[in-house]
Amino acid sequence: MAKFLVQKSDPLRGEVTISGSKNAVLPIMAATLLTEEKCEISDTPALRDVEVMCDLLENLGCSVNKNLEQNTVEITSGNEISGEAPYSLVKMMRASILVLGALIHRTGHAVIPLPGGCAIGKRPIELHLKGLKAMGVTVDEEKLARGIVDASAEKLHGGTIYLDFPSVGATEVIMMAATLAEGTTILENAAQEPEIVDLASFLNKMGARIKGAGTDTVKITGVDKLKGVHHQVIPDRIEAGTFMVGAAITKGNILIRNVVPSHLKAVIAKLTECGIEITMTDEGMRVRGDVNPLIATNIKTLPYPGFPTDMQSPFMALLTVAKGPSVVIETVFENRFMHVGEFNRMGANIKTDGNAAMIPGDKELEGAEVVATDLRAGAAVVLTGLVAEGTTEVSKVYHIDRGYENFVDKLKALGANIMRIEDKSE
Ligand code: EPZ
Repeated sequence: MAKFLVQKSDPLRGEVTISGSKNAVLPIMAATLLTEEKCEISDTPALRDVEVMCDLLENLGCSVNKNLEQNTVEITSGNEISGEAPYSLVKMMRASILVLGALIHRTGHAVIPLPGGCAIGKRPIELHLKGLKAMGVTVDEEKLARGIVDASAEKLHGGTIYLDFPSVGATEVIMMAATLAEGTTILENAAQEPEIVDLASFLNKMGARIKGAGTDTVKITGVDKLKGVHHQVIPDRIEAGTFMVGAAITKGNILIRNVVPSHLKAVIAKLTECGIEITMTDEGMRVRGDVNPLIATNIKTLPYPGFPTDMQSPFMALLTVAKGPSVVIETVFENRFMHVGEFNRMGANIKTDGNAAMIPGDKELEGAEVVATDLRAGAAVVLTGLVAEGTTEVSKVYHIDRGYENFVDKLKALGANIMRIEDKSE
């Protein structure tokens, strides 16, 4: 198993180019099942989760030509498509559920075993199923009780669906299913993340008729057929936010290329409150943590456009060393403070009470042996390792490999003192 060894580092300096968005490319890859023609996707990040989605689509019968060194993948779902997703692949990536809507269109019957909960929560999918049922899909409730989604439909029809929570995955699955359904679907209280907008622009390029993506009400008018297209994936706003915090926590000065500032309004606002100087130039986003003292601020995670839950742990890393106490409230996932214990092993002295974490701040952190508890938490303990005295050894870095392309190389190029070691003992 691989580990990262992180030493106290100089302020990050130089340039970093952000990769394509993991959370945009995964639903877009799933959506290629909606056409029998070839789709070409560029700026596809070379990530473990992308490889698992490629394996899943191949297993379903798609022909997948991935060239992740060139960040491209071509998918043709032309021949016989099976409706059964193998548990061996689904258990590696819960985002496998994203193929559900498209698969029902292709085969009339989809069977997807569900992974259990994960580090950050139980991850239910009742909203995905509520939407599909409203479109005429039948779900085998007995199998569902055993954690197997067995869903079928001769033909899907439009409907009006209200999401009790603006679930990203439910919005994506329902939007995909509605593109080829008979009639019009109105999705209310939809998720508004930029990744939803990117999926909608991919589907509309294919010939779908989707209006309102990125707002809380999405209208999808069903069409008969979709065609294969080329699509370039949007930049990964969470990777960008992670490097912004890297510049902030080390009092560095970096240029971030391939970033969409409007996707990061909440993160820019909160970092600015902490004294970080963020400016847009022709070349990209300049982030400076070397101008003002680093002061604390409070954050509360919310669905987009609120502060993103995926930035909660990286931002908490910053708050452990910022001047003054702060409070972090996590409202999106019910168990997303697993990284608090890891920060405390480094001397952060954080207390939690339910979905609130109290961070005293102003700490001189010490390097320690820590664990990546989820992919964003893994990046967060690397960030604290950059400023902690001594060495921080991060294990279970396969979590980080799921969501950050060339994370060690990109950090090294900015002057970070980090290396990846293979630990044969584990
Ligand atoms: C997506 O997960 C992202 N993953 C997550 O990123 C991200 O944290 C999350 O959206 C929120 O922004 C991908 O896009 C592949 P949700 P998803 O459905 O779709 C509850 C990362 O680090 N909920 O919006 O699973 C659920 O329990 C990952 O890249 C229901 O209650 O998120 C959770 O508390 C982590 N019922 C909340 O909604 C449902 O039917 C948000 O879940 C569905 C969800």
